[in-house]
Amino acid sequence: MTAKVIDGKAFAAGVRAQVAAHVARLKEEQGLTPGLAVVLVGEDPASQVYVRNKGTQTVECGMNSYEHKLAADTSEAELLALIARLNADPAVHGILVQLPLPKHLDSDLVINAIEPAKDVDGFHISNVGLLGTGQKSMVPCTPLGCLMMLRDHHGSLAGLNAVVVGRSNIVGKPMAQLLLGDSCTVTIAHSRTKDLAAVCRGADILVAAVGRPEMIPGDWVKPGATVIDVGINRIERDGKTRLVGDVHYASAAEVGAITPVPGGVGPMTIACLLANTLTACCRAHGLPEPKGLTA
Ligand code: GUN
Repeated sequence: MTAKVIDGKAFAAGVRAQVAAHVARLKEEQGLTPGLAVVLVGEDPASQVYVRNKGTQTVECGMNSYEHKLAADTSEAELLALIARLNADPAVHGILVQLPLPKHLDSDLVINAIEPAKDVDGFHISNVGLLGTGQKSMVPCTPLGCLMMLRDHHGSLAGLNAVVVGRSNIVGKPMAQLLLGDSCTVTIAHSRTKDLAAVCRGADILVAAVGRPEMIPGDWVKPGATVIDVGINRIERDGKTRLVGDVHYASAAEVGAITPVPGGVGPMTIACLLANTLTACCRAHGLPEPKGLTA
């Protein structure tokens, strides 16, 4: 069987174009500009790159970007005071606190201080509960991006066997909820799962989100399955630093359709953050939500 590459980079460009078109209409018809506030505490180099990319793409879509860069030794009280100001600011429709936070800060406490309607990461316990009970919520960006690509590839997902490898709060658990919401039969597998190979071989949809380089080989993939590789792992090979996913790409691409790393899920995460910010703005003003950009 020949490889079918699911091009996340191109898909994300399409999502950003849809967001930009909707933002332009909001401006023209309502005089409204969605605003996203991103809070970065400390100087973690990877986080700085993410935050810069988020800011650039927010502005490219016609939205306002508010960056708050705080020193690594910022106190919890100072951070909570900033979040309270952003919660109360009508120009801010979305708030994202970049994770991981420095160790002296309690991430759960900080995330749960964000107004749920502005929680564009979908990490607040209210949004987690709403998603788990099938109610309207803010949906975490990475799983939302995976869902969009799966819907585009398959049309209806109803009745398909979906296996999610990984049980994180950011990807694995919300991914499973979204797939269940689209009527898949869902299995959440993880490092303690017995005979993981056999579980994966039963999947029509296989989502890998474990953070272990190339741990899923092609012979764990059912012929014709769709593989969504969420992993972004930096490895040294042949004296060079390379990015690889959680799936062994070359062997899996022989068997099914697959998202590459880089250029698969990664670009969709920021595109969905922009989509969530637009959705939050529309909801805040009682306006119709953008079609095709929410769960
Ligand atoms: N750090 C890495 N990924 C993410 C994300 O999706 N959201 C936040 N807030 N921090 C992150």
